[in-house]
Amino acid sequence: MKTIKAYVEANQQRFLDELFELLRFPSVSADPAYSDDVRRTAAYVAQKLRDAGAENVEICATAGHPIVYGEKIIAPDKPTVLVYGHYDVQPPDPLDLWETPPFEPTVRDGKIFARGACDDKGQFYMHVKAFELMQATDTLACNVKFMIEGEEEVGSDNLGIFVKANKERLAADVVLISDTAMISLDTPSLETGLRGLSYVEVEVIGPNRDLHSGVYGGAVANPVTVLAQLIASLHDQNNRITIPGFYDDVVELSEQERESLNAAPFNEAEYKADLGIKALWGESGYTTIERTGIRPTLELNGIWAGYTGKGAKTVLPSKANAKISMRLVPNQDPDKITALFTKHFESLAPEYVTVKVTPHHGGQPAVTPTDSVAYRAAEKAIEEAFGKKPIPTRGGGSIPIVSLFENELGLKTVLMGFGLDSDNLHSPNEKYDIANYLKGIETIPLFHKYFAELS
Ligand code: BES
Ligand code: MN
Ligand code: MN
Repeated sequence: MKTIKAYVEANQQRFLDELFELLRFPSVSADPAYSDDVRRTAAYVAQKLRDAGAENVEICATAGHPIVYGEKIIAPDKPTVLVYGHYDVQPPDPLDLWETPPFEPTVRDGKIFARGACDDKGQFYMHVKAFELMQATDTLACNVKFMIEGEEEVGSDNLGIFVKANKERLAADVVLISDTAMISLDTPSLETGLRGLSYVEVEVIGPNRDLHSGVYGGAVANPVTVLAQLIASLHDQNNRITIPGFYDDVVELSEQERESLNAAPFNEAEYKADLGIKALWGESGYTTIERTGIRPTLELNGIWAGYTGKGAKTVLPSKANAKISMRLVPNQDPDKITALFTKHFESLAPEYVTVKVTPHHGGQPAVTPTDSVAYRAAEKAIEEAFGKKPIPTRGGGSIPIVSLFENELGLKTVLMGFGLDSDNLHSPNEKYDIANYLKGIETIPLFHKYFAELS
């Protein structure tokens, strides 16, 4: 631990400067306008892996954005850690809500503000620097393989193909991912589950063209009104989702499991104050921790129709649209849920409109074991670095590729995330605390050490 701390301290400014350089690449995977930037980001990541001592570094082309691979095999009889991360980021919009530009990393109050600071550049880069540290101090205890992709934020379709085609190259004993959150530096935690995702787009189609709302209004159904009614009907008075069969496969936790989940510290007043809301909302009978961790949800992500420009335009729009996501919990299947949603939503359509449902990418939920060697190694590493044993929690977000690692590579995952829920992921003013970044770089070598020792 002493050598680790000393190395991090001596190199901390460079560790930050390199991360800032990485954050300056606008690697937005969703928008084709950025595809050259995405490619340049992959090249930077590959170079940094080489600089840190990785071998066989390769920028693997895919039908979409490239995957960066690199490895260091020290001995065939040592355990192998497969580090997964993503160098792509969410679009920075809405730009006017950023206090400083999203791709000009800025430090305020010990926090790095930039798109991707926490999700996931700041987090995967900790592994590159921890690897450099282990190489430089001659303490590498496990074989390491890096797989850093550029399409996580758009569904990882090509990573799925890559994994299936490269099973041997990716052979390992565990997948290690830092792309989740912990409660706080004072209360370290380890996520032991991720929710799945079913994502659909809906369209309500009325008359064959936009109409004058005075000439036709009152005689022709307004698709915006109908869409609003349909959407409102998707939750009941208890804020439960009304799609028939939606909860059929949900695994209910035992009272004991619920109790230990709810034992994690949660300050409702602070939570509300941070978000600027007066009251919380959610499915009756469940706590906030349960609502965001072990219960499925349905959210509107965007809704648009008709005239939204300046001033007033009197129009009865011909169409109304919305993007809807459903977060799923273990045992729920995204394809099945998408089919249930589609059938239900179409069945709701009154005669005076047509309803269209288009599925987007989905993702399987995942649970990670807490009784494995890798989990114990993560627990020990965090305990040593933070002085406290981490609390197991359930994360609300999704990393669909985790279930693919299990199905295709037979590998379990450890979610050793160092972000905070309040890091503004996917939102303006995304940030990552410098303290979390440096603490992560300190903790990762300990994971490798204990994983080798306990294996
Ligand atoms: N890193 C997040 C997932 C995450 C965030 C997990 C916080 C746990 C806590 C990841 O980059 C992400 O945003 N995933 C998407 C799904 C993907 C298919 C676009 C998500 O959760 O919305
Ligand atoms: Mn992420
Ligand atoms: Mn993300």
